[in-house]
Amino acid sequence: MVTDFNSLRGRFPVLARKTYLNSGSYCALADSVKEAINNYMDDRLLVGANWDVWVMKNEAVRSLMAQVLRAQPDEIAVTASASAGINALASAFDFTKRRNKVVVSDFEFPTNAQIWHAQELRGARVVHVPRAADGYIPLENFEKLIDEETQLVAVTHVCFRNGARLDIPGIVKLAHARGAKVMLDCYQAVGALTVDVKKLDVDFAVGGMLKYLLGTAGMGFLYVRNELISSMTPTQSGWFAQADITAMDITANRPSPTARRFEAGTPAVVNCYAVEAGLKIILELGTDTIEERVRYLTRLYMDRLEEIGWPGITPRQDERRGPMVCVRAKQVAQLFGKLTQQDIVTSFRDDNLRATFHFYNCEQDVDALIQALLGHRAEFRDI
Ligand SMILES: Cc1ncc(COP(=O)(O)O)c(C=O)c1O
Repeated sequence: MVTDFNSLRGRFPVLARKTYLNSGSYCALADSVKEAINNYMDDRLLVGANWDVWVMKNEAVRSLMAQVLRAQPDEIAVTASASAGINALASAFDFTKRRNKVVVSDFEFPTNAQIWHAQELRGARVVHVPRAADGYIPLENFEKLIDEETQLVAVTHVCFRNGARLDIPGIVKLAHARGAKVMLDCYQAVGALTVDVKKLDVDFAVGGMLKYLLGTAGMGFLYVRNELISSMTPTQSGWFAQADITAMDITANRPSPTARRFEAGTPAVVNCYAVEAGLKIILELGTDTIEERVRYLTRLYMDRLEEIGWPGITPRQDERRGPMVCVRAKQVAQLFGKLTQQDIVTSFRDDNLRATFHFYNCEQDVDALIQALLGHRAEFRDI
């Protein structure tokens, strides 16, 4: 079946008004996601406290997220953010033994370094894998730092600064051979690429719902490989993390036998409505189909950038790239501002202008950005 991506654009009203290349910050809002939030409001107005339905909504999110990651629902904790998931996970590690090293990379989003550095108070040693001269982080740089003292390798899938995708299968193989676990921060990939946690063989994965998963801010997920759950007891906890939420027992901490033990308090019910609707769109299309579309669009944009002599700094190899393509600019904030005035929505980090693609983008979006960049040729900055 051939997917008619152009007809899907009608479900995202902002696309009729703007060239929206900003899903790596916040997705375009789908009509069904807005409707879902309205349904929550109707519930509040007309029913009051509809807890039976709300608890089911949280479970629906867990189950849909498991499908996206190709995992089991019991392996998913529904969290308030990616940071909340990483914090709960970190609280379950013991850094008092010889294996106390956490390896992160230079490509990390701040939260996935800061939280591990916060564990230094508990005995963790955090090391950063540096980039090579070409700006990428090859496997050999990980090989030098992952050793018998490494407890965890916590790495991003796609770098939020430059769009480069790390060699996750290679890193996982290396880490496991040396007895270390791997946590994947797939926030800049999941929903735009297929993230099959079983195939990738990662032990943990975190992300959130507001970017390529088409949901909203205020909700994230933590995947914990089934075989590891019972051996890990988070010291960050709460009543929604207990084996029996309704027990109301204040004499002990009795964590859930599932990944729910990494949760804490009352679920963000309004967000569940939005996230359920967003995940349904992703699953209806299928992440393999979406990934193919995103690869086509990013490649097209990179080819056009070459043509206009403003080449991207994101790796050109398909397996080293996700949904984000970056170009350098002399004064990137100014360039971003000019594009915004032209109704082209992008974002920037460091000196890099980021264009992030989802299935709802199209050739005309690439064209609009290329034409605009040609008009701002003076901003071109060589590598
Ligand atoms: C790769 C990556 N990790 C983590 C985060 C932070 O997620 P949260 O704010 O849900 O903790 C982001 C947010 O942009 C991100 O891009």
